[in-house]
Amino acid sequence: MFGKKKNTTPEIDKEQLELLKTAQERIKQKKRLYAHFVIFLIGSVFLILANTALGIGKDVTFFNINWFVYAIAIWLFLLIYHVFNVFITSKLLSSKWEEKQLNLMVSKQKQRIAELKTQVEKDFPLPEKKSLKATSKNSEITIIVAAGENNAIGKDNQLIWHLSDDLKRFKNLTNGHHIIMGRKTFESFPKPLPNRTHIVITRQENYQAPSGVIVVNNLEDALDASRTDKQPFIIGGGEIYKQALNLADKLEITRVHANFEADTFFPEIDTSIWKEVTKTRHQKDDKHVYDFSFITYIKN
Ligand SMILES: NC(=O)c1ccc[n+]([C@@H]2O[C@H](COP(=O)([O-])OP(=O)(O)OC[C@H]3O[C@@H](n4cnc5c(N)ncnc54)[C@H](OP(=O)(O)O)[C@@H]3O)[C@@H](O)[C@H]2O)c1
Repeated sequence: MFGKKKNTTPEIDKEQLELLKTAQERIKQKKRLYAHFVIFLIGSVFLILANTALGIGKDVTFFNINWFVYAIAIWLFLLIYHVFNVFITSKLLSSKWEEKQLNLMVSKQKQRIAELKTQVEKDFPLPEKKSLKATSKNSEITIIVAAGENNAIGKDNQLIWHLSDDLKRFKNLTNGHHIIMGRKTFESFPKPLPNRTHIVITRQENYQAPSGVIVVNNLEDALDASRTDKQPFIIGGGEIYKQALNLADKLEITRVHANFEADTFFPEIDTSIWKEVTKTRHQKDDKHVYDFSFITYIKN
């Protein structure tokens, strides 16, 4: 890679050179046509003057028409033929030729790109794709969720409750971090949350999201996109929690102490895998309709 520089002379691609030549030829053809037109005008005036003013061939007529009229008409015909040649025949032929050349160039460029790609892959081999565990080894993948006693988390793509201290905790914990979510959870927000990098998982190929929002097609890519973050958060919803529970290192649960009717649920927490490390209980008050507890689990 850092060896001696090859002694190369810059070269214009053959096809590009031919295109250039054709363009130059077209300019020449048009210039010649213009010269022909000017000469025709001068020549015609000269023929008329020769006949009328100088009296040259004054008596030469065919069918009662002076000879110079025939001469000018024949010349005009030749001029029209010239115009036709330049603007119709050559143009048609050259556009076909240009198209052929362009196709040739495109296929050559594609071939060159493929060669360069192979060369780059050879010179800078990518590290083998790491497993999820290896990718996230340095980060603490954290699931954050608020769930009822019956694991209910949502209904009609909305949260079921409003607990302002829970929202504050969510804000404090996730502030400045990557937040990974399913497409439906993302769409349940009125707009992206400030000061967090949103990663949205969808199976849709061309999903359009506001600028700054990262869109990926699977959970592995979502975790890969957040690899610079020491603590990326998986924030739901039900489908994503289900797929991510085995991959997470930590759970931040707000357990709402009531049962709820819902259409989305958090998976059962297996206490042989997850160890509760902290728990803080909050009684209901005028801002909170339910009792709830903040519980942190880590993997055993
Ligand atoms: N209580 C809480 O803490 C909490 C937190 C978050 C959300 N929620 C609630 O949960 C509900 C939403 O959850 P949900 O389960 O319906 O939806 P979700 O998990 O938010 O999103 C589901 C969508 O994610 C995409 N997806 C899922 N797995 C994928 C995979 N392996 N690869 C690619 N894309 C994948 C699909 O999107 P496409 O269809 O676009 O392909 C799928 O339709 C709402 O009611 C919300 O309010 C509650």
